[in-house]
Amino acid sequence: MTFILDNFIRGMGMKIIFTDSYDQMSRRAANIISAQIILHPQTVLGLATGTTPIGTYQQLINWYEKGDLDFSQVITFNLDEYYGLSGEHPQSYRYFMDTYLFNQININKKNIHIPNGMTSDIDAECAGYDQAIEDAGGIDLQLLGIGRNGHIGFNEPGSSYEKLTHLVTLTENTIQANARLFAKKEEVPTKALTMGMKSIMHAKRILLIANGPAKIQILNQALYGSITPEVPASILQLHPDLTVIASQK
Ligand code: GLP
Repeated sequence: MTFILDNFIRGMGMKIIFTDSYDQMSRRAANIISAQIILHPQTVLGLATGTTPIGTYQQLINWYEKGDLDFSQVITFNLDEYYGLSGEHPQSYRYFMDTYLFNQININKKNIHIPNGMTSDIDAECAGYDQAIEDAGGIDLQLLGIGRNGHIGFNEPGSSYEKLTHLVTLTENTIQANARLFAKKEEVPTKALTMGMKSIMHAKRILLIANGPAKIQILNQALYGSITPEVPASILQLHPDLTVIASQK
């Protein structure tokens, strides 16, 4: 009985859309984000970095340039930032977001939130970040990518489901995967500040995007396997409003 009930509850709020290309995936994701902004101009978005969302951001920029989208009242919170990198560092997530989205739309810079990787007081930075999310009324729509080991944000396998924003030590697997974006592997920071699994699960809606065959196996494990901290994204099966858009090619 427990098993049947468990399977019934799991995935009840989940919609999965498969696409044939990265462009289609990006367009679908941008459609959902833009609908959210059009219906609720003061919406609070949770945003992600990584190579996967770049096309989604580009599509949003295109619609903004056509006059179809207005970001002037949108509030954003990014999932994570490398610890020890300033916003001017080209591999920082702040720099990434400025380059691929913020500098190209009419967002009010005061409405942008990204953890400060250069903080000298980690606890205060994390508590302040959680408070700012709460003060904004919580995240309406959280965009997520997925790491090859199932991490979301920088919540690595084994992370507690109970955490809000906190400092994490990156796994070798993640450092290796992200090294392609740095000149040398040694330059990849070993720590990061990330919203926790609890922060992510508190979002009212979640939109997870995954690109290409390299992500299919971990995605299957996350969406249909056991719910376990060893596959951080598996907790999303319990979210009441999860949309997954995956490009198979
Ligand atoms: C980083 C980010 C994650 C992202 C992941 C996957 O580790 N912290 O938020 O989902 O990379 O990146 P990519 O989209 O490049 O595969």
